[in-house]
Amino acid sequence: MNLDELNKVARAMVAPGKGILAADESSGTIKKRFDTIGVESTEDSRRDYREMLFRSTEGMKHISGVILYDETIWQKAKDGTPLVELIKKAGSIPGIKVDEGTKPLPNCPGEVVTIGLDKLADRLPKYFEQGARFAKWRAVIDIGANGIPSYTCIRANVHALARYAALCQAAQIVPIVEPEVLMDGDHDVERCATVTKLVLKLTFEELYFNRVALEGIVLKPNMVISGKKNGKRAGIEEVAERTVKVLKNCVPGAVPGIAFLSGGQSDEEATAHLDAMNKIGNLPWALTFSYGRALQHAPQTTWKGKSENVAAAQRAFSHRAKMNGLAALGQWKADMEKKAA
Ligand code: 13P
Repeated sequence: MNLDELNKVARAMVAPGKGILAADESSGTIKKRFDTIGVESTEDSRRDYREMLFRSTEGMKHISGVILYDETIWQKAKDGTPLVELIKKAGSIPGIKVDEGTKPLPNCPGEVVTIGLDKLADRLPKYFEQGARFAKWRAVIDIGANGIPSYTCIRANVHALARYAALCQAAQIVPIVEPEVLMDGDHDVERCATVTKLVLKLTFEELYFNRVALEGIVLKPNMVISGKKNGKRAGIEEVAERTVKVLKNCVPGAVPGIAFLSGGQSDEEATAHLDAMNKIGNLPWALTFSYGRALQHAPQTTWKGKSENVAAAQRAFSHRAKMNGLAALGQWKADMEKKAA
């Protein structure tokens, strides 16, 4: 492992004013998204859609890296250019989702564990050869009644995360370490803070026991936020303050950067929260975005699978990328959204 090189890639992933585009929806998930805009999900339609994003010149200026799904990393654009080359030409780093989704966790009703470790050591060098310089593995922790999340579930998931991270670094690939505490449900922000803190403490413990070099990772956490169905959801400032507080308590300064998932927040909410955190300032790590839905909802609903909508969809994507780029610097203002509308 060349840690200097890993650290260089990790820092580039969280470079000032830039963040990550999570375009790694599995075929099942992208089908669900396409269903809502009336587009049939085929190999070609998925390719056309993603090619459109990667060719958004303005938007890609704010995108440091793109997380791809296995299908996409091998795909070629309509003109025969590998999609990975389009990403590199745009000045962005290709990355790859390597987990294989979740399975029910035995003895823990309602809880899941992320799988995909078995052949990972063999798969990683192939992805490296194909241009991937970072990877992603998402662990999913739910908050619910009846002792959810259980200690068993958190332990099993953070152990897999740390094993994945160690394998990535051995293959000279920067691991995005993603322990996601879901925002589904009606829990309050305090409960999210408690669970997130426990999950992050155990994540870093496992990373340590698995000898993962923190200088060569990027953390992708949830924000400390109220459940979607909570009647009295915390406001922007409270989410920002609570998230920064938990992160300061749990994430060592050796970690180059933290790139949040959007997790079901509205586009503007995700931007406003990131901006408010960066406005607090004086943080030991870069704080940026690694958004899927909050970057893609606008271009998807504009595109609707029609070639005549491509330019408008690219503008919609570029706008969100720019807004989030500004939020990563703490320079976003709400009226920038209205001006663009
Ligand atoms: P969302 O921003 O839509 O939560 O997706 C980010 C991601 O990559 C989840 O793994």
